[in-house]
Amino acid sequence: MPTTTPFEAPGTPSGLTTNQAPFIEGARARGDLFIHQPWEEYSRENHDTWSVLFRQMRSRWERYANHRFLEGIEALALPADRVPRLEDVNQFLAPLTGFVAKPVAGYVPAYLFFDCLEKREFPTTITIRDGRTPDYLPEPDIFHDIAGHVPMHTDPAFADTLVKFGRVSKLAVERLVERGDTPDLRERLASNMRAMARFFWFTIEFGLMRDHTPDSDGGLRVYGSGLLSSRGEIEHSIESPDVQRYPFQLEWVVNQAFEIHHYQPVLFVVEDFEHLFREVEELERWILDGRLDNVAPCEPLISEEEIDLSLAAARESGSIA
Ligand SMILES: [Fe+2]
Repeated sequence: MPTTTPFEAPGTPSGLTTNQAPFIEGARARGDLFIHQPWEEYSRENHDTWSVLFRQMRSRWERYANHRFLEGIEALALPADRVPRLEDVNQFLAPLTGFVAKPVAGYVPAYLFFDCLEKREFPTTITIRDGRTPDYLPEPDIFHDIAGHVPMHTDPAFADTLVKFGRVSKLAVERLVERGDTPDLRERLASNMRAMARFFWFTIEFGLMRDHTPDSDGGLRVYGSGLLSSRGEIEHSIESPDVQRYPFQLEWVVNQAFEIHHYQPVLFVVEDFEHLFREVEELERWILDGRLDNVAPCEPLISEEEIDLSLAAARESGSIA
């Protein structure tokens, strides 16, 4: 098997491919998280990968995606033949809901991520998966973030839900810190963060919604971005008898563990975007009542470093002393 594409001489930089991008390595080495998108660095192979994924997903989106997502794809005028420029995407997106895609060099600590959502900034990966292994995603890529997430951000109700979720997630950290440095502070923080991650996972990333559009058969449609950017799982999530699909129940969702490296066996269904927004409001009440301070253990594991990063980000933003 050749190790380079026909477009690249051996030893030349591999554009902006996941885990192979010198530009990103440099930014990370400097400690730069928020960056620009050096669009000219995408290789021919990077553009081809986008083009193949976009073409293959199109028919699946038409069949399985929530209609607001399909409208979002049109509203953003995403190119089918090349990796989009984020500034072009933002020109269409910002006037609709105030959201912008904000390029990042890698993982964004939870508190900072929530802070961005509250400010209507969506941290966006600029690298793209290796075209030779298009179904393997060691981390999010620009296809997941721009083709999977951002079309949903054109919908005002969904955008408001994301903003509210960002605010509520910050509140989960701030409330505990303001209570003082109790011995179990870190455990309670980890529990709240685990609950928020589960909520995000089973809605924004892997959510299903009842189809109430005229002429629909009342079936299910996908609005979660992890499904909307997966060639195999989008169909599996709707069609497979191996998936358990249940009406959204907050007490279940915040206690339900998930693993990221295989198709999800359990998914939750909301009725519409207003329903989703109400669930975030309910989540806020649960935080304030301390009902997320001791949720079920297991995945996702919240590391000590993650807690430190969230506390540091909260202090830096001036939200806590
Ligand atoms: Fe995502």
